[in-house]
Amino acid sequence: MAVKIALAGVGNCASVFVQGLKFYSGTERKGLWHPNVAGTRPKDLQVVAAFDVDSRKVGLELSKAIFAPPNVARRYLAVPKGKVTVEAGISKGDAAPHLKNVRLEKTGSEEVTKLLEASGADVLVNMISSGSVATSEEYARAALRAGCAFINCTPSLVLRNNKLVADFQKAKLPLVGDDLMSQFGGTIFHKGLLGLMVKRGIKVSKSYQLDVGGGSETLNTIDEDIKMAKREVKTTAVASEVPYKFETIAGTTDFVDYMGNDRTSYFWFEGSTFMESGISVDIYLRSSDGANAGNVLLDVIRATYRCKQIRKIGTVGEICAYGFKSPPKPMHYDEAYTKFAALYVR
Ligand SMILES: NC(=O)c1ccc[n+]([C@@H]2O[C@H](COP(=O)([O-])OP(=O)(O)OC[C@H]3O[C@@H](n4cnc5c(N)ncnc54)[C@H](O)[C@@H]3O)[C@@H](O)[C@H]2O)c1
Repeated sequence: MAVKIALAGVGNCASVFVQGLKFYSGTERKGLWHPNVAGTRPKDLQVVAAFDVDSRKVGLELSKAIFAPPNVARRYLAVPKGKVTVEAGISKGDAAPHLKNVRLEKTGSEEVTKLLEASGADVLVNMISSGSVATSEEYARAALRAGCAFINCTPSLVLRNNKLVADFQKAKLPLVGDDLMSQFGGTIFHKGLLGLMVKRGIKVSKSYQLDVGGGSETLNTIDEDIKMAKREVKTTAVASEVPYKFETIAGTTDFVDYMGNDRTSYFWFEGSTFMESGISVDIYLRSSDGANAGNVLLDVIRATYRCKQIRKIGTVGEICAYGFKSPPKPMHYDEAYTKFAALYVR
């Protein structure tokens, strides 16, 4: 049995994911968080279709496209040539700032539906650039018509579109999102430390998380509008860990091209304890974006596929809360993980 996956966006995240599928296609388990999710192992996953709009990637076989510019993700291993050619994707005129001077290869939403049907894809994973809200929604519609489940890894708030959510429910298909939460990225680290402070009775007053990174996604995120939208998602996600109001800001602040696909997140926390004596923490986290997404992507794809099989439909609460920064119903992380693990991790 293969879980057939279609990818929208062949960027850095997709690059490491595709390399990961090759790495874990045998008995290798090093670095794998959950070998068995919902009865499925990484070797059961297969990419059957891929879409992009960047003319430097469209028309290339996937094993080549994942290393085509402007991708900067590390080449962990050689991926053998397969049978998937990157097809032209959808664009609703909201292309990312870093693509403004690039020739775009576009096609219609109906054509994407036909290609999804022909590929037999079970799940469409949306990994296009942030900021393309209308386009992300159109990919969801294309998936819906093709009978595919939809996973929105981007910060575009697709699951807030009530009509789309209702249409997926009617079609008895799951859709999950929004904005993938990395395994050990800035958001979960920020939430974890805040949670610990709250558990230890610290009155948190302020915190920030300032990210600097390379890669085209970071370049996009310094565009003022996208930066503010993404900051809103991240800040809301982080604030949900503290049961009272406090001041916090979380988001990307700069692009440094020679950092490649790596990211440094700088954190600062301020609070008070006994006799109002002060507590403060200054700390940073270094990680690699694409790799940091890999385990969570593997998990949410396998769990979503299972939901599709058993007709657990609509926005599946435990998958959204475990794997995404902006789920429709926020949950404390411990609760989200416990629910997800109880239902899917074997
Ligand atoms: N750890 C992570 O990497 C992580 C975590 C959370 C969220 N995300 C989200 O996942 C998405 C992908 O991240 P990334 O680092 O791979 O970004 P990236 O910039 O490296 O890749 C995005 C890819 O999407 C393509 N694209 C843009 N518009 C498209 C369209 N209309 N149709 C098809 N393809 C299109 C681009 O050409 C590019 O290949 C982003 O939205 C990001 O916010 C990533």
